[in-house]
Amino acid sequence: MLCSSDEIRTTLREHLAWWGLRHFSSDRDYFAWQRQRLPYEDLKRLAFHAEQKRHGDRHDEIMFYDVTAHPKIYPVLYSQRYEYYEEIGVRMTAHFGQAEDILDFGCGIGVLTVFYARLFPEKNFVGIDRSSASIVVARERADKLGLRNLRFECVDVDVEPLSGSYDLVVATHALVQAEQDRGLPSRNWRTFERAHDPSQQLTFERRTGLAIRLDELCRVLNSSGRMIVSEKTRQLARRVPFQRALANRGLRLVERPAPIRYRTVEEVVDDGPFYVLDRRSEATLDWDEEPEQDQGQHFDPHTVSMSAGAVNAPLYENHWPSAQTTWEQLKDREVIRETTRQAPDGRQVHAERGRSHGQHYLYCANTFDQRQLVIDEEARVTMLDEYYQEITRGLP
Ligand SMILES: C[S@@+](CC[C@H](N)C(=O)[O-])C[C@H]1O[C@@H](n2cnc3c(N)ncnc32)[C@H](O)[C@@H]1O
Repeated sequence: MLCSSDEIRTTLREHLAWWGLRHFSSDRDYFAWQRQRLPYEDLKRLAFHAEQKRHGDRHDEIMFYDVTAHPKIYPVLYSQRYEYYEEIGVRMTAHFGQAEDILDFGCGIGVLTVFYARLFPEKNFVGIDRSSASIVVARERADKLGLRNLRFECVDVDVEPLSGSYDLVVATHALVQAEQDRGLPSRNWRTFERAHDPSQQLTFERRTGLAIRLDELCRVLNSSGRMIVSEKTRQLARRVPFQRALANRGLRLVERPAPIRYRTVEEVVDDGPFYVLDRRSEATLDWDEEPEQDQGQHFDPHTVSMSAGAVNAPLYENHWPSAQTTWEQLKDREVIRETTRQAPDGRQVHAERGRSHGQHYLYCANTFDQRQLVIDEEARVTMLDEYYQEITRGLP
């Protein structure tokens, strides 16, 4: 029995190597390997299906996962997600506890499901996915290892009910697939707060497919069971309706949600959070609907001139949600010009040029939590004006 997370990580790396996945720390090396392994025609086909998936329906999405399940493609494509598997795999296995029957919803080709089943031979696992090609690969890999505690089923939960009953249900990157969905806007540009509007919530849950999937998962979860989910819902506009969907179904936080961070080939991804939930917890952990702590600096008008950085850099710049507090606290704020525009769908954008304490500022805010505050000296006011013009030109 493996105990420490280091031991689990080592075993997981061996497991990923067994799947043909490789870890790259240089993008150049990865792409050189990709070119070697995948002919241009395959890459073009992949890009075509990725685009279809982005704009299409469930058939396009199923087709994308069918194509990526090809044994020539998945090791190359999923090597990009190597650190994602490490991050989720290690974290997940630390939470299996006493659970005996475990469902992995949207298991894909089963990279993690097979790992869980190898690590916990005394527990029973079921992996569900609607991509039949993915399920074929998952079954083949499980058979190769002779795993008897693991079963894979091809089910599309959007159109067919799940069977069975589980004391742990896990879902990672499978509940909110619509990556381009921006989520729920705030009440207005001045706040990060979201209105409690059931019809807006329902619209979000339906258009992302979350409603039906979560209802099904809750239905097969034992009343004393646990659910562990981690989706691409780190942005507040997606995090709030996602959390409300969980809370509305009686799910409560067993522990504080953990942010997930990993490197893919081309970027560092801020993902998750990782939620551990149940329906019986007496715990009174609150759902956090505030923006995360960010890296915005505090602004002090007396010391800022001395601390200003590069030659052409403004005195102060903050592109984080904390820019709002700094803007609110500007002394003797005097607005020179401002504009607030509303898109037909209700989203708002605000831009403001002003003066405070002998300095000039530009502030922008919108209902998707973007904030920007730039402060500069009188002598460089033209730059702020030009920036203001540029921003307002692009408004709805
Ligand atoms: C991004 S992959 C994630 C795979 C795996 N959970 C992981 O973390 O690597 C999402 C998977 O969810 C599956 N999926 C999405 N919606 C589904 C549904 N309604 N029923 C069954 N599977 C679904 C897709 O087919 C796809 O294989």
